[in-house]
Amino acid sequence: MTSTALPPLANDRFLRACLRLPTDCTPVWLMRQAGRYLPEYKATRMKAGNSFMGLATNPEYATEVTIQPLDRYALDAAILFSDILTVPDAMGLGLSFGAGEGPKFAHPIKDEADVAKLAVPDMDKLRYVFDAVASIRRALGSGREQRVPLIGFSGSPWTLACYMVEGGGSDDYRLVKTLMYRRPDLMHRILEVNADAVAAYLNAQIEAGAQAVMVFDSWGGVLADGAFQRFSLAYTERVLRQLKREHEGFRIPHIVFTKGGGLWLEAIAATGCDVVGIDWTVNLGSARARVGNKVAIQGNLDPNVLFAEPEQVRAEVARTLESFGALRPGAGHVFNLGHGISQHTPPDNVSVLVDAVHELSRRQRVAQG
Ligand code: CP3
Repeated sequence: MTSTALPPLANDRFLRACLRLPTDCTPVWLMRQAGRYLPEYKATRMKAGNSFMGLATNPEYATEVTIQPLDRYALDAAILFSDILTVPDAMGLGLSFGAGEGPKFAHPIKDEADVAKLAVPDMDKLRYVFDAVASIRRALGSGREQRVPLIGFSGSPWTLACYMVEGGGSDDYRLVKTLMYRRPDLMHRILEVNADAVAAYLNAQIEAGAQAVMVFDSWGGVLADGAFQRFSLAYTERVLRQLKREHEGFRIPHIVFTKGGGLWLEAIAATGCDVVGIDWTVNLGSARARVGNKVAIQGNLDPNVLFAEPEQVRAEVARTLESFGALRPGAGHVFNLGHGISQHTPPDNVSVLVDAVHELSRRQRVAQG
């Protein structure tokens, strides 16, 4: 039997909602909540040599930037400051972030020989991530004093493979899809290694103190129906099967977010995850009708709403809460954006969003008695 016990925390709304337990109001956190839209993030980044990896590989800086959004906003969870691409970097692909560019790999996977060399990396190479997790937990406080729970994360095997084969971001996924259709055997081999690496990585984060874990399948939605199930979902499932469901007697919720995954919600919910993250293209009420008796739902405000006026942000928050349907306690909604927050977001609008989620959902709870 898996324990349903939750750790004692000053604020456990997020963990409760993940397990569809009653909450006083809807919890909220934001994908990429620590980042360049915050001036204090940019200041810490400068101290770290104006480099993203300088921040991510230094546990002290990683802790500082993880806590920054919590000091500004009434967020209900912290998320480890790191990146999904740390895993292929540890596999030897040579990650770098050029100034003003996206991520780049010096040694992308091009052929059969590159695939043959691929292996689950020694987790010691990722020690800086686990040290950051432990350091963030200390900064959040201990026992009943802990401010909010800490979420750990990884990319999905497929999403990591996209970067590993393309060598960086892509508009058309031509290289990775060419490999998938021409040499499915090689693609399956990459995905197997990725899945086992991701499982080991997430389990090590849990052991270091992550209290929930999230798999980002950011590019699952670029796959054809059928290909998604075989090349993305099957390997997310392979990760989930290996993940610790509890640590030190406390339940560790598992979240799966597939951008563009609206067509496949039932299949995603059937993987055995606790929470399905959805983007803004799906109506929350219909998502809930399709899978809400199995899993909690996380999402799904369009991040671009944050460019509107405060009253409009509040109205869109209200619309999102209402779309989830009657907010009976225990309904299992974790409010979030449908994808990461933009670096151009006005910080004050984030306060408007977070406060509106709490206030409006609390009011709805009261109205329903
Ligand atoms: O949510 C958080 O606050 C935690 C931190 C976090 C980052 N990346 C920090 C980051 C998380 C959860 C991620 C995940 C991630 N990284 C994903 C999955 C989520 C998604 O957005 O779909 C992906 C696809 C990546 C890969 C990645 N990392 C890209 C494409 C980029 C460049 C994009 C950009 O905005 O420049 C990164 C760099 C990155 N990771 C930044 C941050 C805050 C930009 C940081 C900087 O240059 O200072």
